[in-house]
Amino acid sequence: MIIVPDTVEFVRKDGRAYNELRPVKIKAGVLKRADGSSYIELGSNKILAAVYGPRDPQITKIKRPDRAIIRCRYNMAPFSVEERKRPGPDRRSIEISKITAEALAPSIILEKFPRSSIDIFIEVLEADGGTRCAGITAASVALADAGIPLRDLVVACSAGKVNGHVVLDLTEEEDKEGEADVPVAIMPRTKEITLLQVDGELTPEELEKAIDLAIEGCMSINKLQKKSIERKIWVY
Ligand code: CDP
Repeated sequence: MIIVPDTVEFVRKDGRAYNELRPVKIKAGVLKRADGSSYIELGSNKILAAVYGPRDPQITKIKRPDRAIIRCRYNMAPFSVEERKRPGPDRRSIEISKITAEALAPSIILEKFPRSSIDIFIEVLEADGGTRCAGITAASVALADAGIPLRDLVVACSAGKVNGHVVLDLTEEEDKEGEADVPVAIMPRTKEITLLQVDGELTPEELEKAIDLAIEGCMSINKLQKKSIERKIWVY
């Protein structure tokens, strides 16, 4: 007889259930000099987000007459990963900067600020898988903290496939060992998806399951995002 492992009973290396997030902490308004800021911890991930603007981008040719532009820089500190990360942008950080700006754009009422820019900085201080999602979540809180008019917050969370099981919020180890990682960002009021990436291989059914699971994770994290903005205290 073949025993098919049941996803519900599958226990992960760190003891979490398949649908369990790592502990999350978010704080808004952590930097005095930024217009808006936030700090997030998701398991061992530690990430700062700072927002400046709307402000004059200083470069005439990138200004848009009808709306603000978003400039985003995702950066990993050299000490944030096991093997020292060479400082400066690389292909991965350029990609994450781009998809982060795109994931946040639908939530920002950009038309209100023609010819200006909204600048978002995401600094990963410690990384353990899922930093792009945690960075997007933190950046959205920082945008709200800056008083920038938003249609909704954006919250992100990833799900994926590890040892044949669809699980929520992969650690770096699970990401490396696993078969697939699916980062998802949504605007929780409408559940409109603003980011969907698939790295790895899943069946259509598994992909659907991963997206549903990631959205569930997003909805839980969104509660903390909202609290952090209301109270400007540690919420977890
Ligand atoms: O962080 P995220 O899952 O969004 O992106 P990834 O490219 O799938 O990277 C997964 C993890 O690999 C990161 O969170 C880091 O923990 C680790 N990593 C690393 O150790 N060194 C790098 N240069 C890049 C990523």
